[in-house]
Amino acid sequence: MPPRRWVLLIERLRRQHRIDQLLAQHVAELAAAGHVPARPRAIVAALRQGRLSAFVASAHGMAVGLLCWSARDGRGAVQLLLAAPPDRELVAGALLEAAVPALANAGARQIVHPLRQAEPEPFRRAFARAGFAEVRVEKLTHERPAAVPVPAVPDGYCLADWQESYADEVAGIFQMLPRDPSDAILWPDLATPAGALDLVRTLAGEASFVATLDFRSLQDFGSLLPIVGYVLAQRCRDGSGRIGELGVAPAHQGRGLGKALLTAAMHALARAGAASVWLTVLASNAPAAGLYASLGFRPTDEQSVFLWPG
Ligand SMILES: CC(C)(COP(=O)(O)OP(=O)(O)OC[C@H]1O[C@@H](n2cnc3c(N)ncnc32)[C@H](O)[C@@H]1OP(=O)(O)O)[C@@H](O)C(=O)NCCC(=O)NCCS
Repeated sequence: MPPRRWVLLIERLRRQHRIDQLLAQHVAELAAAGHVPARPRAIVAALRQGRLSAFVASAHGMAVGLLCWSARDGRGAVQLLLAAPPDRELVAGALLEAAVPALANAGARQIVHPLRQAEPEPFRRAFARAGFAEVRVEKLTHERPAAVPVPAVPDGYCLADWQESYADEVAGIFQMLPRDPSDAILWPDLATPAGALDLVRTLAGEASFVATLDFRSLQDFGSLLPIVGYVLAQRCRDGSGRIGELGVAPAHQGRGLGKALLTAAMHALARAGAASVWLTVLASNAPAAGLYASLGFRPTDEQSVFLWPG
């Protein structure tokens, strides 16, 4: 008997397409791999309400792939990409081929997708072929924050507890620091001073500090105490501590301020009851990764984000 031809049809999702089985299979796979799956009901509701658009891939009348997307203010997102075996790369690739021009037509100048798949390799290859770049983000955790030795604050500097009135100045440094270009796509708030200020206010918690010049240097700056570094940290609902942001102004880097700020935040989080402290960092950020490794942070999770254009 000649082999049955596998005809893949890609079209906009319509009412008669049955995607329940596909969603259920995806949820089961993710749960088996220890990931937190997206809620199928929330996806279906978003599709019904028009908050998401979608393409479906079908073969022999059965849904074998689904791509949900949205575009707003020039930013596009592939919110969900499902492809059933046996040829996941082919199905995911065909869906992306249809979705990228649709997103561009809807005004998206950038497209972001966080990879959430139990079997990621076929999806990686499909994204690469569709012109996306992969950015690796690592979650690092420290299990004994209180045991980290506290280094002396470098000469000429001092640390101060966070105050709301520091927010503007810290947002200024925040925006000034050279960053990986993918940062701006992943955190679009950074693009504007108002967005950066908002982000600083959101990330600052009870374990945040700033580094300033020592009062002995004050005569050079009138009565202002210029802020030269910051760490923004907070307790999470699950009881862990999170380092949200850490930065040292370029002229003051390499003197031990980053280490002093981070250690101060780790101890403050431990005093507030956090058993562990975690943060996320771009795998390409060598200075930050070096600092975290030297203090005993270890990788506990890894996520890939795909960016278009690559
Ligand atoms: C990451 C950052 C806060 C480090 O601040 P810093 O004050 O320069 O760091 P320190 O002087 O305290 O250095 C502490 C350790 O970090 C590591 N480190 C610092 N700069 C480094 C570099 N350029 N390359 C490799 N490792 C580096 C080293 O392990 C160093 O320890 P050592 O001096 O004993 O070798 C700073 O580079 C920065 O502001 N970067 C931009 C913002 C950013 O990326 N923040 C992190 C987001 S997750």
